[in-house]
Amino acid sequence: MKTITVGISGASGVIYAQRLLMHLDESAEVSQINLVISGPGRRVIADELEISSSADSEQLVTDMVGRPSLKTVMFHPGDIGASIASGSCPVDAMIIIPCSASTLGTLASGASRNLLHRAADVCLKENRRLVLVPRETPLSTIHLENMLRLKQAGALIVPAMPAFYHKPAHIIALVDHFIYRVMDHLGLAHSQETAWRGESAKGS
Ligand SMILES: Cc1cc2nc3c(=O)[nH]c(=O)nc-3n(C[C@H](O)[C@H](O)[C@H](O)COP(=O)(O)O)c2cc1C
Repeated sequence: MKTITVGISGASGVIYAQRLLMHLDESAEVSQINLVISGPGRRVIADELEISSSADSEQLVTDMVGRPSLKTVMFHPGDIGASIASGSCPVDAMIIIPCSASTLGTLASGASRNLLHRAADVCLKENRRLVLVPRETPLSTIHLENMLRLKQAGALIVPAMPAFYHKPAHIIALVDHFIYRVMDHLGLAHSQETAWRGESAKGS
């Protein structure tokens, strides 16, 4: 059974985080989800998912997961003394989805300013799996250099670039296909076939 930390920063595409949380909550392999949302992340959730910015933690988790979730533990981004700020806290993997250019830059500099940054920094120093899902376009030289630096430090960079070869009929199919690839990188099983098996697979 795994403990996964999910960070949400203030980039567009918070629907990716919402669908990931739903799948993690359903996964028999996941016993605990630690959730940290930055202030700007909360703002984008309100803008893109129309989840009230005044919702309390319990309501926010219910709205994000789609039902009350006993597995999900919500942390305040300002609580730098929380358990996940320490390397002694057992966490199997962390993901920041979506990851803003700002959070990317903070992580690349090592100058953590909140619990989301600190928890990710801990993953890097403890050699734990850290998956970053940047969402920005176009990318500046600074963004690209920050991604390279983080990749070299051990993070996995999985940009929010959905695929189309599976011919998604609607936005949830498009988002979920990307989330299944993310779950592959988190080392979690899922029900969907995401491997491309060549031309012979067409139409099957
Ligand atoms: C609706 C909205 C969408 C945004 N989309 C992005 C984005 O896609 N990528 C990005 O890097 N920043 C985006 N931003 C800007 C970030 O929220 C801003 O840089 C913020 O300081 C990031 O803080 P955080 O990394 O601590 O969450 C967006 C802001 C808003 C309000």
